[in-house]
Amino acid sequence: MTRRILVTGASRGIGLSIAQTLADKGYALDLLTSGEASAESLRAEAFVRSSQARVHAVNLSDAHAVKDFASKWQGELWGIVNNAGICKTFGLLDSGDDPLDEVLGTNLIGPYLLTKGLIAHLTRPGRIVNIASQLGQEGRAGYSAYCASKFGLIGLTKCWAKELGAEGITVNAVCPGWVGTEMSFKDVERMAAEQGVSAEQFYKDTCAPLELKRFNTPAEVANLVAFLVSDEASGVTGRDWLMHTVWNQS
Ligand SMILES: NC(=O)c1ccc[n+]([C@@H]2O[C@H](COP(=O)([O-])OP(=O)(O)OC[C@H]3O[C@@H](n4cnc5c(N)ncnc54)[C@H](OP(=O)(O)O)[C@@H]3O)[C@@H](O)[C@H]2O)c1
Repeated sequence: MTRRILVTGASRGIGLSIAQTLADKGYALDLLTSGEASAESLRAEAFVRSSQARVHAVNLSDAHAVKDFASKWQGELWGIVNNAGICKTFGLLDSGDDPLDEVLGTNLIGPYLLTKGLIAHLTRPGRIVNIASQLGQEGRAGYSAYCASKFGLIGLTKCWAKELGAEGITVNAVCPGWVGTEMSFKDVERMAAEQGVSAEQFYKDTCAPLELKRFNTPAEVANLVAFLVSDEASGVTGRDWLMHTVWNQS
């Protein structure tokens, strides 16, 4: 039987690339977006139509909606890729609207509730991959909510690997540094403006100390995910896989 994988945040960026890569490899897919508008655009993608992927709109920051979605699930799943995430900056000394609840809800509590709700449907063996971040391994000023969510996601990865290992389910986190997506380019533009330089100059300066002298591509992240959900990765679990980027900023 064709193996089925659920991917969250599949409408764009890294999640879209993961979905395309897994479809190319012949997996059956369930793809999640945050709302109906992005779900509709995703349904129109050629690879979604040709692979007959199912697309669902579920707001991960809405605990009730996530539990409701999972409770109605039918059938087996080979894997879950918790990719969806948001990044909002806010310092401890800042005032105004604190994005803590929204960021933790989307990046940490949503994936927890979704995985918990679907775990009975996961095949044994099976696969869980959580897209964390380099900022799940180190702190950065102004990113406390985001870092807390990604440190937390790596924590879940390590606990679940221990809970599920005897059942043959592997659980890994992927920790990209900079990846060229809407999320990172928004950050680049904001930080460039703060420093009074062009986005191009900021990108060049940011890439200078990196091993590959550039951001990762979404496809490079997707290739690592494709390995981690494969049979070949059966002996790899409980790890947070840092991609090439070295963060050298405060
Ligand atoms: N880009 C980077 O440099 C980078 C680096 C390290 C880690 N990451 C992580 O990689 C993952 C993907 O990042 P990306 O750069 O591809 O982001 P992106 O381009 O901004 O895409 C985010 C995805 O998450 C979905 N999403 C956002 N809020 C949601 C919610 N409340 N409920 C359900 N889905 C929601 C979006 O769906 P809609 O379109 O429906 O809103 C979209 O599909 C994130 O977890 C991010 O933290 C990214």
